[in-house]
This record gives sequence, C-alpha cells and structure tokens, in this order.
Amino acid sequence: MAKEKTTFTCTECGGTSPRWLGKCPSCGAWNTLIEQVAEAGPGKNRLSTPQGYAGLANAQPVLPLAAIEAQDVARTPSGIDELDRVLGGGIVEGGVVLIGGDPGIGKSTLLLQAMDALQRAGLPTLYVTGEESGAQVALRSRRLGIEGSQVQLLAEIQLEKILATVDATQPAVVVIDSIQTTYSDQLTSAPGSVAQVRECAAHLTRMAKGTGIAVILVGHVTKEGALAGPRVLEHMVDTVLYFEGDTHSQFRLVRAIKNRFGAVNEIGVFAMTEKGLKGVSNPSAIFLSQHSEPVPGSCVMVTLEGTRPLLVEIQALVDSGGPSPRRLSVGLDKDRLAMLLAVLHRHAGVACMDQDVFVNAVGGVRISEPAADLAVMLSITSSLRGKALPRGFLAFGEVGLAGEVRPAPRGQERLKEAAKLGFSVAVVPKANAPKKPIEGLTIHAVERVEEAMDVVRGL
Ligand code: TYD
Ligand code: MG
Repeated sequence: MAKEKTTFTCTECGGTSPRWLGKCPSCGAWNTLIEQVAEAGPGKNRLSTPQGYAGLANAQPVLPLAAIEAQDVARTPSGIDELDRVLGGGIVEGGVVLIGGDPGIGKSTLLLQAMDALQRAGLPTLYVTGEESGAQVALRSRRLGIEGSQVQLLAEIQLEKILATVDATQPAVVVIDSIQTTYSDQLTSAPGSVAQVRECAAHLTRMAKGTGIAVILVGHVTKEGALAGPRVLEHMVDTVLYFEGDTHSQFRLVRAIKNRFGAVNEIGVFAMTEKGLKGVSNPSAIFLSQHSEPVPGSCVMVTLEGTRPLLVEIQALVDSGGPSPRRLSVGLDKDRLAMLLAVLHRHAGVACMDQDVFVNAVGGVRISEPAADLAVMLSITSSLRGKALPRGFLAFGEVGLAGEVRPAPRGQERLKEAAKLGFSVAVVPKANAPKKPIEGLTIHAVERVEEAMDVVRGL
C-alpha cells in the first residue's frame, strides 16, 4: 500500500502544518501538533464554489425523526454478571467499549474470561494481543482454568493486518489489547502516540459500525490518571469503563463513566483470586477495614453509586505540619478537602491551619459524590482530638459553604444497608431521616455542621 501523505494538525485550533513544530503556527499553543493522514482531493478547505455548495457535493435526503424506525439494541450477556451490570446488560452489536485502568489491575484477565464465556455461548470471538505473546496468553488461560478454550488468538499490532484478519474471520466480538500498542502503517509516528491511538481507534470504530462487530479496546492510564491519548478516545467510543482499586488489595471495581447503551456510574465488583476475577454479588462490606477496637480518625460512610450501596471507611490523619502544611487526599477530591477544612474552621471552630491533613478512602475506591463530606469532616475532627468515634457509627451528607448539611439521594436505602451490616448509630442530614425508625439504628438528624459536631461530642 502506498504511504498516504500526512499533515500535522493542532489539537487546540485545528491549524495545520506540513512538518512537526513545537509551537502551533496558527494559535501559538505549545506541543499541540499531532500527525494525521492528509485527506486527499482538492478543495478540502473550500467552503463554496462559484456555483454555490451544489458544486461541491450532491444534496442528501433527509427524514423526519418520527419516520425513522427506532430499533432496540440487541445485547448479548457476557456471562460475567458484574461485567454485564456495568455494560447495561451485555455486549451490544457494533458497540465499541473502552476499558481503562492501571497496569496489572486485571483488564486482560477479565476480557479473556469474558471472551471465553462468549465463545462457549456460541459467539465467535477474536482476541488480539499486542502486549503479550500467544504463549503468555495461553499460560494465563491455563491459570484461569479455561483449558480447551476456542477463543481465536492473534498476536499482532499492525492495524491493517488486524482489520484484514477481522474481515477474513468474521468474529462477533473483537478485543484489542491494547490500543496503545496498535499502530497504523499510514502514520509515521510511534505506536502509543496520540495520533496513532486516535487513528487506530477511529478505524476500529468505523469497522464496528459498518459490520456490527462489537469491539472492546483496552486502554492504559497515564500517571495523571487520564487515558493515554488524551480523552480523544472517550468521545469516539460508546462505552467507557474504568478499573479502580488498589492492586495490593483483592478487590477491583469496574465503573461505567460513559454508556450510550445503559446507565452510568454503575459499578461491577470483582475479587482477584488464584483463578482470575470472580464477581462479588454482595459487595457492601468489602471496603471496611477490620479494627478490633474503634480508632481515632476513622469514620464509615455509605456511598451509593449505581444501584448498590457500599460502605466505605474514610480515614484521616491530622498531624502537626511545617510552615506550609500539606493537604493530601487519596480517593477523594483534593479541592473539596480544602473547602471542608475551611467550613470546619468557620462554622465549627475546628482549626487545622498549622496541621498536615491526610484523608484516604480505604481499599482504593474513588468517591466522587459529595455525600462523603460529613464523614470526611468527622474523621478529621476525630483524628485531631485523638478520640475515636463509637463502635457501629456512620455518617453521610453533603456539606455546603454556609455550614448546612444537605441530603444525599436515596438516604433510606443507605441507612437500611448499614443497619443490615450491624451499624447502630448514624448522623445524617435532616431530610434523610427516615419517617419510620429502622430497627437497631439510632439516627441523629442534623441540619448544620455544628450540630453534627455536638452530637458526636455527646456520644
Ligand atoms: P492483568 O489482567 O494482566 O492486568 P492488565 O491487563 O490490566 O495489565 O492482571 C495481572 C495481575 O493479576 C497480575 O498481577 C497477576 C494477577 N492475577 C491473579 O491474581 N490471578 C489470576 O488468575 C490471574 C490470571 C492474574
Ligand atoms: Mg494486560
């Protein structure tokens, strides 16, 4: 195949240059030029001809929305319940899924298990591995206990060869592990560069839409936590799943952050075992650490992401700091921590100005919902005072800048789950207080941060 001409396009302004330059000649932004295949044909940038637009292309037929038949998407369950839950029911024909996550978290393991289950259900599958050799994948499959698997394997990184193979073998589902190792002949830049990742993903997406073959792309996450190949991929695909969790602990979360075919923020929970990933169908208590006695600086909250409540322990450590004290958070928003410390100072009179403050959501979970606020504040004050919260205590609720405690969605569900797990005291926003008492749970409903502090002091 003849090499196509490439140009360099600025990701900021769209300006082009025939060569790579550090600075965009059009808008002056630095390091924004990326390589792309130049579109052939004259007049690409001409907006009209002397004859008007008609000289450029033929008008296309249009249809009223009501006249277009709406088809329900056909889904094939992958056979792995927790994965189907985040996918919104299963794999969709012609759908493109992107799975991101840190190295070693279990992306390849999960997909190999899913492909094997699909293959056994009678769906032809193709697993394209660019990171490992066929032998390595085979070794993993033995470890997973899926000997005799009929999943078709291709160890290849060149896009054109992959597409040709897909065309020849006609699978129903293709896994590309990973998109960063795939490269197209048409571009000169190295595999893994933004241009390559974007070009390859675009071709694979087009192939999926044109043929109805479902494509699953594995993507790596950079140190900053974004998918390598800046968020461009997220826009192209139908579904984006992220693996979360601490690689040192056993549990892994798979979270849907975008899904054109289902709900977002649904989570699937897995445990990494000797024999691969196993779904955890009742995950509510897995993010609690086991203290034999209550310890200062720890407060449990109930987070509700997707459809299931999860109890998560928030830990804080407040320690005397230097002239510029540090604020550090793991699994929680750092800016929000700064805000909560300010609210704590202004409205509850708790000063941490000269203290280092560290907060952590146990187990490597990421909590993005503001309902964690109250638990974060209570764990900070508990650590500062060196006084543990009582056994069986939990709190949730959003805290506003004026010191008010705002309700969290579906408070009843959260409280019921906590009661089920044996929690006995809860501090919750007033609007979340249940009308009927929940057996075994004493509930303190508060409207302001000061009130919450008073309640805790009296316990
Ligand atoms: P892997 O799927 O290779 O991660 P990724 O593709 O996201 O980089 O996961 C590898 C890790 O999982 C590795 O550290 C070993 C562990 N593992 C198990 O604990 N049990 C198993 O059965 C398998 C296959 C892997
Ligand atoms: Mg892998």
